[in-house]
Amino acid sequence: MSNKNKKLRSQGWFGGMNKRGFLHRSWLRNQGYPTYLFQNRPVIGICNTWSELTPCNGHLREFAEIVKKGVLEAGGFPLEFPVTSLGETVMRPTAMLFRNLASMDVEESIRANPLDGVVLLTGCDKTTPSTLMGACSVNLPTIVVPGGPMLNGKFKGGEIGSGTFVWQIKEKRKRGELSDEDLLEAEICSARSSGHCMTMGTASTMACMVETLGLTLPGIAAIPAVDSRKKALARISGKRIVDMVKEDLKLSDILTRQAFENAIISNAAIGGSTNFIIHLQAIAGRIGVDLKLEDFDHLGSKIPLLVNLQPSGEYLMEDFFTPEGCRLCSKRSKTTCTCTP
Ligand code: FES
Repeated sequence: MSNKNKKLRSQGWFGGMNKRGFLHRSWLRNQGYPTYLFQNRPVIGICNTWSELTPCNGHLREFAEIVKKGVLEAGGFPLEFPVTSLGETVMRPTAMLFRNLASMDVEESIRANPLDGVVLLTGCDKTTPSTLMGACSVNLPTIVVPGGPMLNGKFKGGEIGSGTFVWQIKEKRKRGELSDEDLLEAEICSARSSGHCMTMGTASTMACMVETLGLTLPGIAAIPAVDSRKKALARISGKRIVDMVKEDLKLSDILTRQAFENAIISNAAIGGSTNFIIHLQAIAGRIGVDLKLEDFDHLGSKIPLLVNLQPSGEYLMEDFFTPEGCRLCSKRSKTTCTCTP
């Protein structure tokens, strides 16, 4: 797979002994980077959807620094850049209006800059498909680091799922089952850590989608944002993207028809969001894979549902990653199940 003789794309900016080469090298140095860091080394763009207006992605500044360490360890040179971040919780009327606009931002930011590979830092619902759609249109070696879900919400001795509970509030208030005090208590108990919604909503679905498409390191999607294992895999992702540049392993090499089929089957097994269909088709369109609505039916409709997660079930992403209790009947406490160990 190695393609060591291929000239690095970034050297089209940094390699010339002319006015342009001078300009590109000289101005990058004003940040304190010695020239050897970006000459003949894979330059890796860290495409960051961090924003304080996207609380689900609020920890991605820290993650960018972690990924950079991995890039440097592997002999690459990381350069972080911001892109449009779409947060579901505060944007009006809906973040979906801006998904394609955000994807154009990502596409042009990658295409116009001296990058050999890209790491997409994603989290809240639309930040995964928007960045991936943009990256697909440029088709460089690319790896995704999903930011991970929040820890389970805890309220009055039970657990509350970020998305699911929000939809229950209106009905509970109408029925008088949730006092003002309880409402305020629930809102500070449901977001216990950094990360995105911890139900199998769109954000978790998108994280699983990119993993089953083959665009992440294995096993990263469900790890909570604050779990040290997430940070370790973010660092290794930084190392991996440098190798992917050396291998010239582009998105189109990974995103085959089979990869999309794998994602559809996996999504059916985990009970992922129906938004999966909208976003996967858009991604397939960008990379040139013909994916029809019938494919989702044909491939997914006979797949058994293997997990029991909100909103269709009971549990949350933290349980999906580290199930507790009985693994036979899924009861949370071994003391309430009658299965023999
Ligand atoms: Fe961001 Fe749910 S609001 S993932």
